[in-house]
Amino acid sequence: MPDIFAEKIENSVSKDFKRYTITSALPYANGPLHIGHIAGAYLPADIYVRYLRSKGKDVVYISGSDEHGAAITLRAKKEGTTPQAIIDKYHEINKETFRKFGIAFDIYDRTSAPIHHETSQAFFKDLYDKGEFIEKESEQYYDEEFKQFLADRYITGTCPNCGHDAAYGDQCEKCGTSLSPTDLINPISTLSGKTPVLKSTKHWYLPLDKYQPWLEKWLGEDSKKKEWKSNVYGQCTSWLKAGLQPRAMTRDLDWGVDVPIEGADGKKLYVWLDAPIGYISATKNWAKANGKNWKDYWLKQENDEDDSCLIHFIGKDNIVFHCIIFPAILQAHGGYLLPTNVPANEFLNLEGDKLSTSRNWAVWLHEYLEDLPNKEDVLRYVLCANAPESKDNDFTWKDYQTRNNSELVAIYGNFVNRAVVLTHKYFEGRVPTLGELDGVDKEVLKELEEFPSKIASSIDKFRFREALALLMDLARLGNKYLADTEPWKLIKTDEARTGTILNIALQIAANLSILSEPFLPRTAEKLALTLNLEGKKWEDAGDSDLLLQGQDIEKAALLFEKTEDEVVDKQVQKLEDSKMANQAIDTEVEAQKAETTFDDFMKMDMRVGTILTAEKVKKSNKLLKFTVDTGIDKRTILSGIAKYYSPEEMIGKQVTVLANLAPRKIMGVESQGMILMAEDHDGSLKLIQPNVAMMNGATIS
Ligand code: 2FM
Ligand code: ZN
Repeated sequence: MPDIFAEKIENSVSKDFKRYTITSALPYANGPLHIGHIAGAYLPADIYVRYLRSKGKDVVYISGSDEHGAAITLRAKKEGTTPQAIIDKYHEINKETFRKFGIAFDIYDRTSAPIHHETSQAFFKDLYDKGEFIEKESEQYYDEEFKQFLADRYITGTCPNCGHDAAYGDQCEKCGTSLSPTDLINPISTLSGKTPVLKSTKHWYLPLDKYQPWLEKWLGEDSKKKEWKSNVYGQCTSWLKAGLQPRAMTRDLDWGVDVPIEGADGKKLYVWLDAPIGYISATKNWAKANGKNWKDYWLKQENDEDDSCLIHFIGKDNIVFHCIIFPAILQAHGGYLLPTNVPANEFLNLEGDKLSTSRNWAVWLHEYLEDLPNKEDVLRYVLCANAPESKDNDFTWKDYQTRNNSELVAIYGNFVNRAVVLTHKYFEGRVPTLGELDGVDKEVLKELEEFPSKIASSIDKFRFREALALLMDLARLGNKYLADTEPWKLIKTDEARTGTILNIALQIAANLSILSEPFLPRTAEKLALTLNLEGKKWEDAGDSDLLLQGQDIEKAALLFEKTEDEVVDKQVQKLEDSKMANQAIDTEVEAQKAETTFDDFMKMDMRVGTILTAEKVKKSNKLLKFTVDTGIDKRTILSGIAKYYSPEEMIGKQVTVLANLAPRKIMGVESQGMILMAEDHDGSLKLIQPNVAMMNGATIS
């Protein structure tokens, strides 16, 4: 096989295409969305699409709900409802969440739509008729109690690769290895919790091994794929190096798209066959409603293969499906465009920990919208500035606060506000006349002119963080210009010169509005309204005559406001609460001990006592030595609580004492009893104390 481990070449779509088909992974409609979703596959795509639209390109942006597969049926089981109720609920919630964050899909469709069932069935039938599938009878795990075969997430067990004990039947989420249920050690049905049995069943397999040579060539040395992001290209390469195997394209399930051939009763299409075809069916729905031809966006045009450009935005867990399996399916069918690029992102972590739905370790987008209203652009900004473009990254509320206060408020907002407020103060809210330019003006205007192409070049390379940093540099340029020229001082002596400076500052603000639109659409719109800037697009940016001399501008609108400590503290507390709740769930409560008799219990002499003295035991990190007034006597008791209590805080505390425990020598000191404690979820020890002050020696029974 050719060596497709290429040296890294810049990835970009610098060539101009006639049309752009942009997709974002179809999220499962089995739960709400969190920041990891938006940072991975939606925000970068939305920035890219908005940028293309601003450049006047013919672009369609497609996504929707993935409504099949075990993700849906298992959720329905958990919520005690039907799969249909689950997809109806979460499709609407997620569609609305995306809308509120300004993710500007042309269509957000559903794979339960009839057109999708027809389209995916037609795909399967086409491949079946061409003899592309291998029909194979094999032994698969079966849950006898639930009378169901157990594919994918219906089965868990120990990963043979890394030993993780909760790997799924299709993948280990810990090490990322792709698995078959029969690879799992100690397989367990997620339905009954029991060990499944093996039973024979028939399925249709796509022989990916047959497509390996074609994929190697397609992804290989002489293709442009070497220019893909190295995290994506690297994953493709290691799949190919490991050697592709046939993969079943059907499942024994009762929820999904029916397999459209004889002898396949009760079988459904594999969700990873039907879901990416969902991009095509959604395009059909969109085209029908908008007087377009879906084929222009999906089929290779005769004699002109580069007419249209297909780009999939996804998270890294979807790379194999979009870079190997889906292209193989499209190729097997023939006639379809293949992806020009798949700029997958890595994962976003939260406060140092993996985002997790089941552990409620997430910033849920619908909750963010409620807790921090009108701050959609702030989250877009933070997630883009810290996007996991080439490695996993961490979202922290501290970083959110700093980026908001020190960047959006202090740089962007401050610059725009000064330019607008001073124009109102000195020039009655009219764009002042541009007079003769001096050196600093010319320098600033020259720099301004270069921003659109610099930002565009980063976006073309899918380097959205870099593009956003450049955008902020433009705001910095404006701030510095005002700080250097000090129009608030100059107005006293030179009104004309002050006018020139504010004209230039306002032109920078107008540019900021155009160039911000892909990243911060609501802010860009507010700013455009303030400046009465209408209909300007990317190609207009760089100019210094976007605003006409004498034109009115509106009063300054508040673009960003400071995020106070209380706001982020509340969010951090929310996460702390989740952590505590998880720990409580995670901690296994000790099993009940063997039965004891009442008489045995009554043999124990437990009393309330008071700590009179407390000190550390030499050479021990664990032990404290106490003198305890037990009401009967004052005695020495040793206790292993030095990690949790200091000697000073113990003095005067009332505790419970097992007084008739046989004395024991510990580290050379005789302990004459035991202080009772309970072990908390995190393994820490807590004293068991009376809840009111009591006399020493009061007995406990
Ligand atoms: O991983 C997921 O959430 C899948 N539902 C993504 C599907 S992407 C595409 F193929 F539809
Ligand atoms: Zn593993």
